[in-house]
Amino acid sequence: MLHTGRHFLQIPGPTNVPDRVLRAMNRPVIDHRGPEFAQLGTEVLEQLRGIFLTSGPVIMFPSSGSGAWEAAIVNTLSPGDRVLMFETGHFSSQWKQVAEKHGIQVEYVPGNWRRGADPAEAESRLTADRQHALKAVMVVHNETSTGVVSRIPEIRAAINRAKHPALLMVDTISSLGSMDYRHQDWGVDVTIGGSQKGLMLPPGLSFNAVSEKALAANKTAKMHRYYWDWQEMLTPNRQGFFPYTPATNLLYGLREAITMLNEEGLQNVFARHARHGEATRAAIQAWGLEIVCENPAEYSNSSTAVFMPEGHDADRLRQVILENFDMSLGAGLSRLARRVFRIGHLGHFNDLMLMGTLAGVEMGLRLAGVPHKDGGVEAAMNSLMAVKALEPVSVK
Ligand SMILES: Cc1ncc(COP(=O)(O)O)c(C=O)c1O
Repeated sequence: MLHTGRHFLQIPGPTNVPDRVLRAMNRPVIDHRGPEFAQLGTEVLEQLRGIFLTSGPVIMFPSSGSGAWEAAIVNTLSPGDRVLMFETGHFSSQWKQVAEKHGIQVEYVPGNWRRGADPAEAESRLTADRQHALKAVMVVHNETSTGVVSRIPEIRAAINRAKHPALLMVDTISSLGSMDYRHQDWGVDVTIGGSQKGLMLPPGLSFNAVSEKALAANKTAKMHRYYWDWQEMLTPNRQGFFPYTPATNLLYGLREAITMLNEEGLQNVFARHARHGEATRAAIQAWGLEIVCENPAEYSNSSTAVFMPEGHDADRLRQVILENFDMSLGAGLSRLARRVFRIGHLGHFNDLMLMGTLAGVEMGLRLAGVPHKDGGVEAAMNSLMAVKALEPVSVK
């Protein structure tokens, strides 16, 4: 494919990788058991705590996000254990499958793929579980397939009110580094992350941030594990090393990406994403299209899923946009296939990239003959200008 100018990669991850990060990775591979690597490993493992907002360890795997899903399960649970999960969309059902393949019995709270995990439902199920058979509550923070956020602090409060000892495990693969998330303050036991979204890196790294309670559960968890074993990691990690060959050059990129996030300030990163999420929704509403998320308190600031009007195919729209404007949008996944397209507005992204993205969508709607109203781009501009006056938080 011929690219004149930059391709617009506006899927909800992998996201655009900043040139600074690409340049940081463009280095010779070094000895992963030598002193130079030890320094790099120590630095990134330490810096990662500031991104997850935890003083505890963050474990890093050379894998896609699915690996970190599996790691969370095999390090804390035993075959036959029961867990509570919520049907929020494609990714919650995938994570459920991972658990079931490991012999976990999943109590799956049904959902309509338009709402987040329900804290009241969590509380009543946990209260009813007097024997404490449920070993974990597992929630996808930002359901990338629907653009719906689950309210993690409220889920934590529900677990506390039920006085239930279950671990809280949260998938932040499409919210980490783009939406407010606090592993420690929110009382999360295992946070699952990936490199390819808010962290602005290529795919290939995944993370488990772990609490003391999760480390205690790890001591008695009976699942077989080798590659994902936290203990195998934690010992060499103390010197900045890994038990097997790490993704050396991705770590150079990670160091640079974290530096960029810190230069901007995490709170400013979150505010930028909130502003872009709001402007995107303003455009969609002006077009007269329907946002998948039906609860404004659960709108995602990293990605938005949009229903096509009845009788119109989302994949055809995406194809028209790709062929005419060199922009990739996210496809509808599993039960939302062809009914929904998704706009990624996260990572290395600014006002004009957002305006270009939304202009591409609006022109695509016209070219593909999708019924809509004009003025989405203008509505987004007005939304951006309305909050332009916000003062950035100073970074110390
Ligand atoms: C919320 C969520 N969880 C898990 C995954 C799976 O991650 P990966 O495709 O990197 O294995 C994704 C991927 O997009 C995701 O968005």
